[in-house]
Amino acid sequence: MSKGAILVTGGAGYIGSHTVRMLAEEAGYEVVVIDNLVFGHRDALISEGVTLVEADIADAASVEDVFSRYKIDGVVHFAAFCFVGESVTDPLKYYANNTAAPLTILKAMRAHGCDKFILSSTCATYGDPQDIPMPETHRQEPINPYGHSKLMLERILKDCDEAYGIRSVRLRYFNASGCSPDGVIGEDHEPETHLIPNVLRAVKGEIGPMTVFGSDYPTADGTCIRDYIHVVDLARAHVRALNYLENDGESFSCNLGTGKGASVKEVIDAAEAVTGKRVPLQYGERREGDPPELIADSTLAKDLLGWEAEITDIKTIIESAWAWMNGDKGGKYKD
Ligand code: UFG
Repeated sequence: MSKGAILVTGGAGYIGSHTVRMLAEEAGYEVVVIDNLVFGHRDALISEGVTLVEADIADAASVEDVFSRYKIDGVVHFAAFCFVGESVTDPLKYYANNTAAPLTILKAMRAHGCDKFILSSTCATYGDPQDIPMPETHRQEPINPYGHSKLMLERILKDCDEAYGIRSVRLRYFNASGCSPDGVIGEDHEPETHLIPNVLRAVKGEIGPMTVFGSDYPTADGTCIRDYIHVVDLARAHVRALNYLENDGESFSCNLGTGKGASVKEVIDAAEAVTGKRVPLQYGERREGDPPELIADSTLAKDLLGWEAEITDIKTIIESAWAWMNGDKGGKYKD
């Protein structure tokens, strides 16, 4: 029996585009991307045969049209806003886009008998960490609307499984980072808030000195520790999750991280080693809502998906981000 297509929402975005490339080029899927290109980039879709439908997932008619036109066998859902600070000042934007808009997809899946859904979820669904590393059984009490918007979608997915048999794997990423090691696709956010691209932009002189947000945390060097997980490892987890559901796996949620932390200072030191240049920096206040340490326990992903991070060295992650910034596109898509 021939496989249908995989619908990737937000497939022109950062993690979406790396996953589309792996689905199309390595796993041999037919891929249909739906993206409104608000944050996504047409140029990020480099694989032959990938179809882009330029539409908003909130637009039920466009979503219905995609499901009528293609035989959609599974959905990998990335389309979402991800700025934690903005979610505090404009929560309705986050609940509309991250929680309500995907309902159009779920309704179309139900109508067309599509029963496999992979969710791009986040460690922000946990809130303040109680245990490090964090297992999936950690309490889920988000501390910002972004985390709530994703947690609600996790809940909706559990209900959709119960009621309609739409099975899902909810992947809770820790700190997505790095770029395709060949430098061809990468991370291009505007505004950019993430640590690694800001460190590298400061090195290139594209921005002024980067600010280290707080150096008085209760960590060994006083700066925050995060679990940086390479985007290609994340992409592979989505392909594995899809295969798992294709093999009749049951719904579940799991963490995706390396299990290893790097502090802001360690990231800066690694960036200096990779680039051979000093990182222009200044020390500033703590950023609101930043916990001192976040590290994933990804045992469940290993047990159920056979997935483990292959890139666990922060220098290798930074090397790939540096390759993208110095590649043909110079770290920026044209559109
Ligand atoms: N940081 C700086 N300076 C910067 C940018 C970041 O010092 O210019 C620090 C932050 O304070 C934090 C660390 O670097 O300690 C990592 O910050 P990022 O913004 O790169 O990532 P976050 O940990 O804040 O965010 C990530 C995801 C979010 C998700 C969140 C969950 O990007 O989508 O984890 O905690 F919600």
